[in-house]
Amino acid sequence: MALSFSQLKKIAEGKTKIIYENPDDAGTVFMVFKDDITAGDGVKHDIIQGKALVDWQTNKDIFEYLNRKGVRTHYIESPEEKVSLVRKLDFKINLEVVSRRVAAGSILKWGGEAEGKRYDPVITQFHYKDDPLHDPMLDDTYIDYIIKAKKDGDMFADMRSLNATIFTVLEAAFAAFRIQLVDFKLEYGMIDGKATVIDEITGGSFRLWPYAKDNPDLNQANVLSELNPAGRLDKDTYRQGEALDAVMNKFAQIAKITSGFGELP
Ligand code: C5P
Repeated sequence: MALSFSQLKKIAEGKTKIIYENPDDAGTVFMVFKDDITAGDGVKHDIIQGKALVDWQTNKDIFEYLNRKGVRTHYIESPEEKVSLVRKLDFKINLEVVSRRVAAGSILKWGGEAEGKRYDPVITQFHYKDDPLHDPMLDDTYIDYIIKAKKDGDMFADMRSLNATIFTVLEAAFAAFRIQLVDFKLEYGMIDGKATVIDEITGGSFRLWPYAKDNPDLNQANVLSELNPAGRLDKDTYRQGEALDAVMNKFAQIAKITSGFGELP
C-alpha cells in the first residue's frame, strides 16, 4: 500500500528532500526526494521533472552498496519510489565533509592547485554548513585540537577516517564502470553515540569524470590527460549552466551506472 505523506507529520524540509515521521516506529523517519535542484548555496534553483526518481534510485544503490560493505549509515531501505526509510538521529552534525582524489572545483581557486592533480591518500576537509557564510572550511589544526581536547573529539576522528574509507569504496565501485570519482561531500549525524553517514548521496554529492583512454594511468601526479572532464556526469553540468534536460540526462546516466553496483562483489 502506498504511503500517504499528507497525513504524516513533516519534521524538516530541505532543498532537495522532506523528512516525515514514521508513525509506526519512532526510531526511523521517511526521507522523500524532491525534483528541486540548487547550486551556489541555494541561489540558483530549478525544478527538473523526474529528478527525484533518479536521485532516489542512485541514493538507494549507493547506500545499499555501502551497507553491504559494512559502512555505518542511516539507510535502512527504500519502501517505494522516491521514499527512503532511514534511522532517526540523536543529532545532526552541522558539517559537510569533503574528500578529494583529484583537484577540481573550489580547491583550484583557493588552493591554487592545478586541475587534475592527484592526492594519495585522499585529502579530507571539514566545512561548516551555512549558506549565508558559504560553508566556510574549518581549520585543520582546530579539528586536530578538538580530536585531542574535547569529550566528543572521537566524532571528528571517526568522520575523517570514515570519509576516506567510503571514498575508496565508492571510487573502486565507479572504477568498475570506467569512471573516476573525483571528489565527494558527505554528511554525518550521531546514531547510538556514533558518527554515522546520513543524508543523500546522489549526482549532487560528487564529481564523476569518465576515463579518457582504454588503459588510463591513474597513478601519476596529475591525471587530467587520463580523464574526460568534459564528459562529466554530475551537478557541475547544472552549476555550469547546461540546459535542464541535459542535466537530467546526466543524472539518469548516473542512476544507470549505480544500478550495476548490486552486481559488484
Ligand atoms: O565545490 P567544491 O570543489 O568544494 O566541492 C567538492 C565536492 O563536494 C563536489 O563533489 C561537490 O559536488 C560537493 N559539494 C556538495 N555540496 C556543497 C558543496 C560541495 O555536495 N554544498
